[in-house]
Amino acid sequence: MARAGVKPALYALLVVAGLLLASLASFWLAVRPPRLATTLRPEDYRFVVEHVTIRADDGVALAGWFAPRPDAPAIVLLHGYPADKADLLPLATALAPQFATLLIDQRYFGDSGGRATTLGFRERGDLKRVVDFLESRGAPAVGVFGFSLGGAVALLTAAEDPRIGAIAAYAPFADLRVLGQELYAWMWLARYPFVEAMLLWSRVLFGADITRPSPVDAAARLAVPVLLVHSRQDEQIPFGHAERLRGALAANSRAEFEFMERGRHGELPVGFEGRLARFCLRPHLVHRRRRRALARVLLVGVPREIKPGEQRVALTPAGVRALAEAGHRVVVERGAGGGSSIRDEEYTREGAVVAAVDEVWAQAEVILKVKEPVAEEYPRMRAGQVVFTYLHLAAAPELARALQAADVIAIAYETVQRADGSLPLLAPMSEVAGRLAVQEGAFYLAKAHGGRGILLAGVPGVPPGNVAVLGAGIVGINAARIALGLGADVSILDINLDRLRAVDDLFHGRVITLMSNSFNVDQVLRRADLLVGAVLVAGARAPVLVTKEMVATMKEGSVIVDVAVDQGGSVETIHPTTLLDPTYVVSGVVHYGVANMPALVPRTSTFALTNATLPYALDLAQRGLAGAVRRNPALAKGVNVWRGRIVHPAVAHALGERATPLEALLG
Ligand SMILES: NC(=O)c1ccc[n+]([C@@H]2O[C@H](COP(=O)([O-])OP(=O)(O)OC[C@H]3O[C@@H](n4cnc5c(N)ncnc54)[C@H](O)[C@@H]3O)[C@@H](O)[C@H]2O)c1
Repeated sequence: MARAGVKPALYALLVVAGLLLASLASFWLAVRPPRLATTLRPEDYRFVVEHVTIRADDGVALAGWFAPRPDAPAIVLLHGYPADKADLLPLATALAPQFATLLIDQRYFGDSGGRATTLGFRERGDLKRVVDFLESRGAPAVGVFGFSLGGAVALLTAAEDPRIGAIAAYAPFADLRVLGQELYAWMWLARYPFVEAMLLWSRVLFGADITRPSPVDAAARLAVPVLLVHSRQDEQIPFGHAERLRGALAANSRAEFEFMERGRHGELPVGFEGRLARFCLRPHLVHRRRRRALARVLLVGVPREIKPGEQRVALTPAGVRALAEAGHRVVVERGAGGGSSIRDEEYTREGAVVAAVDEVWAQAEVILKVKEPVAEEYPRMRAGQVVFTYLHLAAAPELARALQAADVIAIAYETVQRADGSLPLLAPMSEVAGRLAVQEGAFYLAKAHGGRGILLAGVPGVPPGNVAVLGAGIVGINAARIALGLGADVSILDINLDRLRAVDDLFHGRVITLMSNSFNVDQVLRRADLLVGAVLVAGARAPVLVTKEMVATMKEGSVIVDVAVDQGGSVETIHPTTLLDPTYVVSGVVHYGVANMPALVPRTSTFALTNATLPYALDLAQRGLAGAVRRNPALAKGVNVWRGRIVHPAVAHALGERATPLEALLG
């Protein structure tokens, strides 16, 4: 009798052990499935993203692609099982013009860490950390789109995290336990103990029943807008799940349903991107005024300057913020601000994307630069792109041809001109050079630096040094200001009496003003410890006011800083030098002939330049190219080349071409 009872018990034990083993294998496969790697990359869509890593509560690193858009609502895109974030790239690129967009690899999938997926259980916590990240990046509101498993995670998390303002879910499961029973339907009644055994493994290995809470329970608690999409033909998540979720959402007046008659799992309805964007653009995420602004978006690119010695950058973080506040996007080349001591993070904090050089040129509609494109950059320019930078085309026919061939619109800083003839985008560099001229001059007056050994300020009982400035323009006035500030004895000469009157007013008579003529120049030279050359005759070589004979009459060890050297110089003995080897001596006088003085102080120069250029860049972005040049005559004067045609008369003249009037091109 006893033996007869052992056999069935043994069989029963074997069956239970088999069930447990099989369920363990199935559970293991369910939480560690072979991963499906999508080969698409953001570059394939010319989609500029930041690669971000977000830490989950248990330390798992979640890999994301983030396309920021300051002040715009953010959308998180969660892929399905067992794919990765790249699967949703087409959708992300469609949403990116209006939203800050974040694609995330769910734990265990794609580039994220994690030893297993928990099918929504721990992923809820992960999504909360993702929302933290978006908050830290200034997102005013967050919506989530989730595909399949991602949709379930979105529902589960939104029920616990009120910061999620809207959810769109494509074919989420309503209940994982039910899904398991459906999956193992071929086991007939055995499916129930089999699924329960799997959940036992979930308790053993994860310390919890990962099917609880279920998305359907979560949905019943949701008051935020939900868009639920599901196909009746879905072969992976049966349509019954959608019906259960609809039931749970019955009391939610802001729930919308798009149930399709046809389509396999993953087939999106035609025009779904638009539907999703409209759903998320409703008032729950965006105010009406903002919605309109989000429609006109320009992508501005800032490459790193690669001309030898150039350390400036065309946009500061403040500029990024201003463009972003106006609703535009900025992509900055990695390291572009380095020369000016601006870190990449300072840009990204204001909403810029930092990217490789290829992406910057390939994506941006407007390129902001400091120096003219160099040969290496010619092939990067794209037809129809606006290039806004210093160009100096009259002296660079090869560059002019390259701009024509590239079919771009080239706007030159140096020819942007106001009605009064002033050149607002040249002035800041003259301010820098003028102030620097005295600082550099004072340095080289030191004995150890080759100078006379003079302290410009003097000391009580010893007279100050003497500074003579030729030209009372922007450079001259700024030089005089610094020299006066140091306590020097300052004279300034100009041929324009009105300018001298202005100087007299400005400095309350503390600067000696003199009419510029050979006699007066001769006189001041003999007394000068420091001579600053700051003359300019627009469009011409600088007049030579100081001959080599006059230089020979200057004091031994005195210093000449001829800022006008870039236009040939106002001193006969000056020739251009470099920042690395800035001075040489003629007749015992130290000569300083650096033609790009602002490069010595790139940070100050960058900020000075961008203060002046930014309003024009903003105008371009806000009004569009045609609108901006029509309404802003100063900017119109800056247009040198328009899609193959030379527009600026002086540039055309220098190149021996006929200028095409801008109005004719604007139509
Ligand atoms: N080296 C550099 O790094 C650097 C940087 C910025 C500017 N610059 C150069 O500095 C020069 C001055 O620039 P700016 O912005 O002050 O020009 P500006 O037009 O403001 O001033 C030039 C002044 O020179 C005066 N002038 C003309 N002929 C004169 C003469 N014979 N005697 C005395 N004064 C005379 C004009 O009346 C005017 O007031 C330019 O050549 C500019 O290219 C050089």
